[in-house]
Amino acid sequence: MSVIAVVGLATMGMNLARNLAHHGFAVSLYNRTTARVDDFMKQYGTEGAFTPARSPQELVAQLEKPRRILMMVKAGPPVDETIDHLAPHLDAGDILIDGGNSYFLDTVRRGKAVEAKGLRFIGTGVSGGEEGALLGPSIMPGGARDAYTQVEPMLTQISAHVDGEPCCTYIGPGGAGHYVKMVHNGIEYADIQLIAEAYDLLSHALNLGADELSRIFAEWNRGDLESYLIQITSEVLGKRDRATGRPLVDVILDEAEQKGTGKWASQSALDLGIPVTAITEAVFARFLSALKADRQHASKTLAGPNGAIRTAAPASLVDDVRSALYASKMVAYAQGFEQMQAASNEYSWDLELGSIARIWRGGCIIRARFLNRITDAYAQEPSLKNLLLAPYFRDAMASAQGAWRRVLSVAVERGIPVPAFSSSLAYYDAYRRDRLPANLVQGLRDYFGAHSYKRIDRAGSFHTRWSQDGEEVPVR
Ligand code: 6PG
Repeated sequence: MSVIAVVGLATMGMNLARNLAHHGFAVSLYNRTTARVDDFMKQYGTEGAFTPARSPQELVAQLEKPRRILMMVKAGPPVDETIDHLAPHLDAGDILIDGGNSYFLDTVRRGKAVEAKGLRFIGTGVSGGEEGALLGPSIMPGGARDAYTQVEPMLTQISAHVDGEPCCTYIGPGGAGHYVKMVHNGIEYADIQLIAEAYDLLSHALNLGADELSRIFAEWNRGDLESYLIQITSEVLGKRDRATGRPLVDVILDEAEQKGTGKWASQSALDLGIPVTAITEAVFARFLSALKADRQHASKTLAGPNGAIRTAAPASLVDDVRSALYASKMVAYAQGFEQMQAASNEYSWDLELGSIARIWRGGCIIRARFLNRITDAYAQEPSLKNLLLAPYFRDAMASAQGAWRRVLSVAVERGIPVPAFSSSLAYYDAYRRDRLPANLVQGLRDYFGAHSYKRIDRAGSFHTRWSQDGEEVPVR
C-alpha cells in the first residue's frame, strides 16, 4: 500500500514524488493523461516504491487510510476539476492536498466544499522550483490542523533543512498556507526587481558589462546580501550565449512575464490597507516592461536628462548600490511581514511570523542569510509592529541610508528608472515621519466634499464651511 499519492506529473509533481520516494515513502502516481505515468515509471520507476494508477478507482485502492493525495496541477480550474474527478471515490477523513500556487480565497472555498463532503483539505505553498521540489523545498501548509498532522512526517522530511530544522511548519487554517506563499512570491518579485534595478544602475552609470557585473554580484553574495537570488544573478550574468557569443542576458527580450501571485499580493494589500510599495512597484515594473512597443516609440520621442552629469566614482558607487539594495530589501520584507500580520488579524489565522521566516531560510526562492535576522527579531519581540523597528534592522537602515540616498541621486540625475529603490526609500522616509502632509489631503477632501477631518488638539470630527462663512462645525 502507498502512504501518499501524487496526482499531476508535470515537473513539480514528478520531482516531489521522487523526493517522497527518496525518503522511503511508498508513492502512488496518477495523471489524467496516463501516458505521463508510464513515462515516469520508465524514467524514475527504480528510484523508489512507486505504484502507477490508471484510474481514480485504482488509485484509491492503492492508498492507506486516511488517504493522502497531493495534487500538483496548474492553479485555477484544473484544481477544481481534479477535486471533482477524485472526490467521489474517497471516504470520510481522506485528505486532498493542493500544492500549486492557488489563490488563497479559492483555497478557502475549496476547503469548505471538500469538508462538506466529509473529506479534509490542505492548501500548501511549495517553493523552490524544480530543484527544490526534488532536493528539499520550503513548504507552507494551511488547512485543518488534524489533517496537517496526518501529512506532517512526509512534508517535514522532504522539505529543506537549515540547522537541523525543517523548512516546513503548519501555517494556519483555511487559506493561510497559500496566502503566505503568495506573499513569499510578492517578496520574490520585489527582490528580483531590486536586483534588476541594481544591475541597470551599475550598467548605465558605470558602463559595466555583464561579466564584470557577474563578479560584483558574486562578491555581494559573500556578505549580508547572501541569498539564492543574488547567487543565481551572478550565474545568469556570467552566462554566454552559445549562438552569438554575447552575454546571454544581453540577448534576452526585456519583457517580464508573470503568473499572478505578485499581483494578488498587491491586490490583497490594497484590500487590507497595507502599504506594500516594493511588491506593488515590482508588479507595475513588470507591466511597464511588457509595453515594449510603446517604450520603443517613446525612447525616440521623450527627452531624458541633459546637461553635464557628474562622473560617478566606480568603487564607491558599487558599494553604495549594494547598501541601497540591502536597505530596499529590508523594506520589502518589512512590508510583506506587515501584510501577513494584517491578513492574520483579518482572517483570524494566528500566523507566527517568526516561524514563517524560519521556514523561508532554506529551500525557497527567497532563501537568504538575512532571514535569520527576521527570525531573531520575532523571537525577541513576537508582537513586533514593523521589522524596521527591530534593533538589527533599525541600525542597518541607519547605516545604509546615506548610500541609498546617493544612489537615488545618481539614478535621478541620469534618468535611470529605479521604482522599487525609490519607493522603498519614500516608504522609509514616510514611515519615520511623525507628521505627513495628509493634513492637507484631509483639508482638500473636506473642502470639495465635506468629508470632515479630525484635529490634533480636540477629539471629534469637524467640517469647515470653506466657501460660505468659513466657520468650523462639529460633525456627528
Ligand atoms: C517558487 C516560485 C514559483 C513561481 C515562479 C514564477 O516559490 O518556487 O515562486 O512558485 O511560480 O517564481 O512566478 P511568476 O511567473 O509569477 O514570476
